[in-house]
Amino acid sequence: MTARLRDRACIVTGAGRGIGRAIALSFAAEGARVVVNDADGAAAEAVAKEITESGGTAVSEASAIGTMEAAEALVGVALEAFATLDVLVNNAGILRDRMTHRMSEEDFDDVIAVHLKGTWACGRAAIRHWRPLAKEETGSALDRHRKIINVTSASGLIGSVGQSNYAAAKMGIVGLTKTWAKELGRLRINVNAIAPAALTAMTEPLLEDPQVAERRLARFALGRYGAPEEIAPAFVFFASDESNYITGQVLCVDGGLVI
Ligand SMILES: NC(=O)c1ccc[n+]([C@@H]2O[C@H](COP(=O)([O-])OP(=O)(O)OC[C@H]3O[C@@H](n4cnc5c(N)ncnc54)[C@H](O)[C@@H]3O)[C@@H](O)[C@H]2O)c1
Repeated sequence: MTARLRDRACIVTGAGRGIGRAIALSFAAEGARVVVNDADGAAAEAVAKEITESGGTAVSEASAIGTMEAAEALVGVALEAFATLDVLVNNAGILRDRMTHRMSEEDFDDVIAVHLKGTWACGRAAIRHWRPLAKEETGSALDRHRKIINVTSASGLIGSVGQSNYAAAKMGIVGLTKTWAKELGRLRINVNAIAPAALTAMTEPLLEDPQVAERRLARFALGRYGAPEEIAPAFVFFASDESNYITGQVLCVDGGLVI
C-alpha cells in the first residue's frame, strides 16, 4: 500500500461494481477513507467489506443518486463517518439506450436524473459544505485542495447513436465540470472529468453480437476495451496532490476511442 491519498475522506457513487468499485478499491489502497455508495446496497456493503478486510477504512451507503435528498444524505454520511470530506467522485450511472423516435419520456428522465441531476446535486451538497471552510482557511491549510471528479463518456464528447438521453447528460456533465472549475478554483476546489471505456456490466451487452463487437472494437486505437483497474489510476491522480494545478479538464481514459 502506498499513501498518495492518506486519510483523504472520499465519496465514490455507484461503487458497488464496475469502474466505481475499482476506484473505491484504488482509493483505499492509497490510504483514503471511502464512502462506498450504490443504489444496490448489498453491492456497496460487499465493496466496503472488501476494503475493511484488507486493512482499509470504508463505510457503505445506499442512496439512489438523482435527487437533492440523496445527495445531502450521502454527504451527511461521509461527515458522520469521517468528520470531513476531501474528494467527491460522481460515477453512478445507468443506460436506457433507444433511438430517439422510440425513446420514452421515462428513459430520458431516468438517465438525466441519475447522471446530470445526480452529479449536480452531489456536487452542490459538497460545495455547500466546502465553501465556508475554504473561505476561512489560513496558513498551511491553503495548500490543501479539495477535488470533484465527474464521469463523462465518449458519448458526451462526440455523441452516440441510440444515446440521446445519455449523451445529453454526459455533455451536461462536461458543462458542470468547466463551470464548477471556474466557480471554485479560488477556493482550491479542483473539478475535472474522466471519459472512460471499460468492460463492465454496462458495456458487456454491447459486445454480445460478434459483428457489432468487431465494429465497436475497431474504433479503439488500442483495439480493446480496458479493465476497470486500468481506469482507476487516473481517478487516483485527480484525487491526489499531483493534480493540484489541473482543473476544468476532461481526460479520456479509453484506449484511444476519442482522438
Ligand atoms: N464502462 C464504460 O465503458 C463507460 C464508458 C463511458 C462512461 N462510463 C460511465 O462510467 C460510470 C460507471 O460505469 P460502469 O461501466 O462501471 O457501470 P456499471 O453498470 O458496471 O456500474 C454502475 C453502478 O452504478 C450503480 N447505480 C446505478 N444507478 C445508481 C443510482 N441512482 N445511485 C447509486 N448507484 C447507482 C449501479 O448499481 C452499479 O453498481 C457511469 O457513469 C458510466 O456512464 C462507463
